[in-house]
Order: sequence, then C-alpha cells, then structure tokens
Amino acid sequence: MAFYTDAEALNNNCGSSQVISLLIASFCLGDTIYNAMQEQNILDKIMQNHLDLLEALYSQRAIRYFKDQDIPNEIICRLIEIATKAPSGGNSQPWRFLVIKNQDVKNEIGKLYLQSWNQAYGSGSNGERNLEQKVMTSASYLAENIAKAPVWVMACLNHDGSDSHMGRGASIYPAVQNFLLGCMEFGLGSVITTLHKRYEKEVKELLNIPDNTETAALLPLGYLDEKVNYGPTKREPVNQITYQDSWGNPFK
Ligand SMILES: Cc1cc2nc3c(=O)[nH]c(=O)nc-3n(C[C@H](O)[C@H](O)[C@H](O)COP(=O)(O)O)c2cc1C
Repeated sequence: MAFYTDAEALNNNCGSSQVISLLIASFCLGDTIYNAMQEQNILDKIMQNHLDLLEALYSQRAIRYFKDQDIPNEIICRLIEIATKAPSGGNSQPWRFLVIKNQDVKNEIGKLYLQSWNQAYGSGSNGERNLEQKVMTSASYLAENIAKAPVWVMACLNHDGSDSHMGRGASIYPAVQNFLLGCMEFGLGSVITTLHKRYEKEVKELLNIPDNTETAALLPLGYLDEKVNYGPTKREPVNQITYQDSWGNPFK
C-alpha cells in the first residue's frame, strides 16, 4: 500500500536539485505546470510501490463487511482522483461525488436501502430474483448494516435532463470501477450498490442533489473486516461469453 501527500512525495521523492527545480517552477512556470510536475512526482512514488495490476484485476471483488474505522479525507480524495482517471464520452467528465459521513443521513438513506432490499429480495419480494447463497448472505448483511460503513461515496453524474439511458452510464461506471480498484491500494473495500435507486427522489432530497444530476452508485467504503478478503472471483469462462464474426459462432 502506498499513499503520499504532495508534501511527502516532494520530500521523499526529490533530490535537492529536483526540489530547487520545483521551487523555481512554482515561481516561473505558474500553477498549472507546477501542479503537473507535482502530480508526476506523486505518480513516480506510487509506481515504486504499486499493487500489481493483474493481481488487482483478478482479485477485486464486492466487499460488504467493514471495520468501524474512519478513513482519512486525503485517502478518499486520492480514490476520487483515481476514479476521475477513467474515460468519459468526449472527456465530458460528467461525474460528481458526494462523500457522506454524517450518521443521521446514513441512517435515513440506510432505511430506504433496506426497504428496497426487502422489496427486491426479502420479505416483500415475489421471489423471482435469485442470488447465489453467498451473495445473498453478504448482500443481506449489507442491507441491514449499510449505515455502519464508516464512509459512503455517492457517485453521481450531471446530465441534460433527458431520460436515463445506458450511454449516460457509460460515462460514470468506468470511474466507479477505477474507484473500486483504487480501494485495494489502500487496504479498503467497497461494492457498487444501486438498490437506493428505487428511492432516487427521496435520496436526492436528503442529499440536496440537484435535478439534472442522477445518482449512479452508492459506494459504502471501509477497511476490510477480518472475516473478508479480496478475490479470487467466480466468472464464466471467456469461451462461453464470446463469439467470433457472427453471434453464436464460437471464439477459439
Ligand atoms: C450494476 C450493479 C448493481 C449492483 N447493486 C448492488 C446492490 O444494490 N447491493 C449489493 O450488495 N451489491 C450490488 N452489486 C454488487 C454485485 O452483487 C457484485 O458485483 C457481484 O455479486 C459480483 O461480486 P464479486 O465481484 O464479489 O464476485 C451490484 C453490482 C452491479 C454491477
């Protein structure tokens, strides 16, 4: 795991000549170039200790059990920055993030989340939607306890007021996946949740989210409880989900 504030990155990563160069840059080149140089330094430092990309891709998974431990804002900030390295249509960057720590707000939305869970999978459901037992157990636990996650990040996106459609989501979910992968670098876990969407209007009111902004995912965030860990994950093999040249024609 590696995390450095800008100042630490400067201290740890720069020889004295580099520090002098950066100082000169700060006076001569203006904020933009200076900030870019700072970011490069932080990046260099992270790269030295980084989590292996393939390891992360193969073991990132839904984490729903968290320790009762606060998360420094600078780490949350870094995760959101990592999220924003994702692509978006025309680089429009329609994403907005709402960090939620207020317990009363979490409790209120947590109640709506649980209601939604019960309607979809619990006592109020028609039993049509099935989940694998392991997912059922952990998702049900989360539904009862989501307000206990120390931090929530609500990933939202600004839009033009038109009806919600898949193309719109394509400019926010890559950022969400980046966020989830980024969590692993800091020993944190999270899971995409969307059950609150059944109560989108109420949730938006509670969070003062404006009309032309839609919630995309509620991401409960925390350090992993002892009973859970990252992957491996269970997925269908490539040859069962991929065709070549014509739909249904096996890809070998
Ligand atoms: C679009 C979407 C919506 C999801 N909504 C919820 C949710 O509301 N609650 C929840 O506990 N998990 C939710 N999940 C998490 C999935 O259950 C999880 O990604 C899936 O079971 C795979 O988990 P794994 O990566 O640990 O194998 C959602 C995932 C996606 C992609």
